[in-house]
Amino acid sequence: MQALSIVELEQRFQAKVDAEIKIEPKDWMPDTYRHTLIRQISQHAHSEIVGMLPEGNWITRAPSLRRKLILLAKVQDEAGHGLYLYSAAETLGIDRETLVQELLSGKAKYSSIFNYPTLTWADIGAIGWLVDGAAIMNQVALCRCSYGLYARAMDRICKEESFHQRQGYEIMLVLAQGTPEQRQMAQDALNRWWWPSLMMFGPKDADSPHSQQSMKWKIKRVSNDELRQRFVDITVPQAEYLGLTVPDPELRLDTNTGRYHYGEIDWTEFKEIIKGNGPCNRQRMRTRQKAYTDGEWVREAAMAHSQKRALKMNPTQAT
Ligand code: 3HC
Repeated sequence: MQALSIVELEQRFQAKVDAEIKIEPKDWMPDTYRHTLIRQISQHAHSEIVGMLPEGNWITRAPSLRRKLILLAKVQDEAGHGLYLYSAAETLGIDRETLVQELLSGKAKYSSIFNYPTLTWADIGAIGWLVDGAAIMNQVALCRCSYGLYARAMDRICKEESFHQRQGYEIMLVLAQGTPEQRQMAQDALNRWWWPSLMMFGPKDADSPHSQQSMKWKIKRVSNDELRQRFVDITVPQAEYLGLTVPDPELRLDTNTGRYHYGEIDWTEFKEIIKGNGPCNRQRMRTRQKAYTDGEWVREAAMAHSQKRALKMNPTQAT
């Protein structure tokens, strides 16, 4: 049988995507599709791992044993999400060490949101409520991604994110119904995390270099702006229920569409954060680099153990 040309292979690939047939690791796929997935999934994984740092900062200072246990569980979940996503990226033919080095060298991105400091306990509530809430909005759409493995990973991750969002909102509710000082702490946290949470959805559609192709490949199923709008529409009533004020003087409900009009995002701030000039970028990278160095012995021991096991299983395969 004559080999198919690249054009025919690409046509067959796109026809599968258009027919909502999932693409699996062993299927033929355009190199550009593979590279887009490696870029997005690895940066998603980096975000999960770096995202542990701002919250980890409060584990020893949680206001009760119950809150400490919940926060510990959440941070451990994020580690699991990261490892899960690194494994998903490896199915595309790249190894974990390469991905980790891309993060540590600054070549790869992670979500801008994790470059802000967690100044009070209310920030832990705002992160769960807003950051995990935004992540769920984005990740529910990814459950329909054309790359089957990523879509299935999202199924599981979204279930845990719902717990993350719920526990964060409960923290905000307790503070909002607490003393005047606690209410103010919750309002300050909303003021600090509202706009950075909107930036999580990425640049405006018109400024997104990847969206058009990612939508054609059904990696991205809903645009950056639409997901951002859905997040605002769901979250503003939640803030009102808390009795807190969203820090956006232009925010108003459009009674014709039932959607909220919101003010302009500070894209200069967004670009600066992405360039590495946010409040915590350098601190986050230093912490990750130290963790990598300190963990060298663990990796060596794990590798030695797996080589010993392999040798025991197959003595002829002396390395
Ligand atoms: N922070 C950092 N970089 C961002 C960004 C953000 N908030 N939003 C966009 N970017 C980057 C993109 O990575 C891309 O840069 P690159 O070419 O170097 O990768 C550039 O800005 C252009 O953006 P596009 O919108 O064109 O890029 P994408 O099509 O990749 O869309 C995205 C961006 C919506 C973030 C998409 O990559 C995505 O859906 N990623 C998977 C979800 C994810 O990574 N979420 C991050 C948070 S994870 C999290 O919150 C964990 C939870 O447990 C708390």
